[in-house]
Amino acid sequence: MKLNIIPVKWSDEGVLMLDQRLLPTEEKWLTLRTYDAVAAGIKDMVVRGAPAIGVSAAYGIALAARTFVGTNVDDLKDEIEYASDVLAKTRPTAVNLFWAIDRMKRTFDQAQAEGKSVSEIKQVLLDEAKAIHDEDIESQRLIAKFGGELLQDNSTVLTHCNAGALATGGVWGTALGVIRGAVDQGKSVSVIADETRPYLQGARLTAWELMEDDIPVTLITDNMSGHIMKKGGVHAVVVGSDRIAANGDVANKIGTYMVAVLAQRHGIPFYVAAPLSTVDLNCPTGDDIPIEERDRAEVTHVKNNQLAPDGVGVSNYAFDVTPNDLVTAIITEKGVARAPYIESLKKQFDK
Ligand code: MRU
Repeated sequence: MKLNIIPVKWSDEGVLMLDQRLLPTEEKWLTLRTYDAVAAGIKDMVVRGAPAIGVSAAYGIALAARTFVGTNVDDLKDEIEYASDVLAKTRPTAVNLFWAIDRMKRTFDQAQAEGKSVSEIKQVLLDEAKAIHDEDIESQRLIAKFGGELLQDNSTVLTHCNAGALATGGVWGTALGVIRGAVDQGKSVSVIADETRPYLQGARLTAWELMEDDIPVTLITDNMSGHIMKKGGVHAVVVGSDRIAANGDVANKIGTYMVAVLAQRHGIPFYVAAPLSTVDLNCPTGDDIPIEERDRAEVTHVKNNQLAPDGVGVSNYAFDVTPNDLVTAIITEKGVARAPYIESLKKQFDK
């Protein structure tokens, strides 16, 4: 394993993002010099995946501070508030976005209360964004360790979407972190990657990043998983999450719920791997999680190729919610939480 994929970075020029829209055929980095450009990068899926969106938003706020011209701290506060609103309007489901924005705003408030100057606050905000990024990578490392212990040697793991290094601050990933953790512990693990219609994160991104790390991966279309599970070809399912409600209901990429139902039917453990920044204790159940709906063209077309007739009615929900009773365990940086999640998740925050 190379363990070297980091999809978003800070540089003196601005925020660098690996353009995930172009993978796997092109590896191109964009330099984003303003918070608007970072917000557009999140909205347009240059960067995607809940923790990666959170890290990017934190850097976006650091950038809003850096590009601010002036010496009045109250004016800087207005600018940070405005940038936060722009960033918060990019994608609704991944709570990591709002978590990171809140943390950056709290950091600003504390620095202001301490009487810091504009130039000092600029540095404090950049330091905080870097800390969010570093902590995210460390969380994935711990998720990899705890989750890796749950996988058997010589096992085949099915995953949906991309919950890898590309979807986080980098290196390990959440669901793919669990797989990398098991490999790091000396286990032989192969992966079945659902292609993940309509945006094809599995085909484009999961397949690419596992191959980068020499982990055996087989790509399937989303409708093949039931057949393969029935034949005994899947030993565990591991997915990431965009938001986990207080009761353990899990929002993740559209199609995750179908996989969870199939896993239960076949007696296969269904694991969710996510940092605590994805757990939203303010959302009592999955019914309270906003579900993003995206452009119809993602369903009617693949890239620029039209598949469906002009004018056909289309639904394009980007996420679904898996009820907690289908979830075998939730792996976070604090360990492995099991039902009843209303208690076990809360306990993880106290550790
Ligand atoms: O629409 P996306 O590509 O941002 O959706 C990503 C997912 O659903 C991931 O599974 C989730 O964010 C977890 S990433 C560690």
